[in-house]
Amino acid sequence: MTNPKQIVGEKATEFIENGMTVGLGTGSTAYFTTRKVGQLIQNGLNIRCVPTSKSTEQLAYKWNIPLVPISEVEKIDITIDGADEVDPDKNLIKGGGGAHLREKIVASITGYYIIIVDNSKLVHHLGKFKLPVEITPFAREVTRRQVNQLGCTSDWRKKEDGSDFISDNDNFILDCSFELIKDPRALNLTLNQIPGVVENGLFVGMADKIISSDSEGNLKIY
Ligand code: A5P
Repeated sequence: MTNPKQIVGEKATEFIENGMTVGLGTGSTAYFTTRKVGQLIQNGLNIRCVPTSKSTEQLAYKWNIPLVPISEVEKIDITIDGADEVDPDKNLIKGGGGAHLREKIVASITGYYIIIVDNSKLVHHLGKFKLPVEITPFAREVTRRQVNQLGCTSDWRKKEDGSDFISDNDNFILDCSFELIKDPRALNLTLNQIPGVVENGLFVGMADKIISSDSEGNLKIY
């Protein structure tokens, strides 16, 4: 097996124990976790899960994974999710799939937050990957100008057919090019103080464990 996404996605399921409530991430890496979770459940693992997006919810239905509405959950034991960038302090950029609002809500009630990435996502400083910012439709250009004043250029995310990408929460995604984010904690707070910003893709101080792999399958867990 040489797909690093599959290696880390499946490896992370070793942290899951019977009786746990498990958050299921979104994206091409978390896909492998969700698939493996489905297999483990078929083999007798007894857990309940909370999906971080409509697409992961669909995968869970497909593989008969028992789901529980997040509103009925006080605490999630473990969440396993991908990321777009990971810095040495385990700060993240997420939202390449536009799911970061639900992902951050799930992460906020998670006891142990595991991030799974291939090595290409490990960076010294966040910011090369365009920071996804979810924006409410009302007066979206006003919000965009306010975001740009923080020192970035930005583009509305589009679908392949050129129409606007709409998130699971019926909002737009603004992809923001900061190039280098010197203080992720400060930027996270500042962005979220702009009234039209629903949530941004900076996850600061949230990840407990990073599992990464290169294309040879060499794992790094820290
Ligand atoms: C979804 O919006 C994201 O936060 C993903 O977790 C992130 O983009 C990583 O996705 P891949 O595993 O597909 O690279």
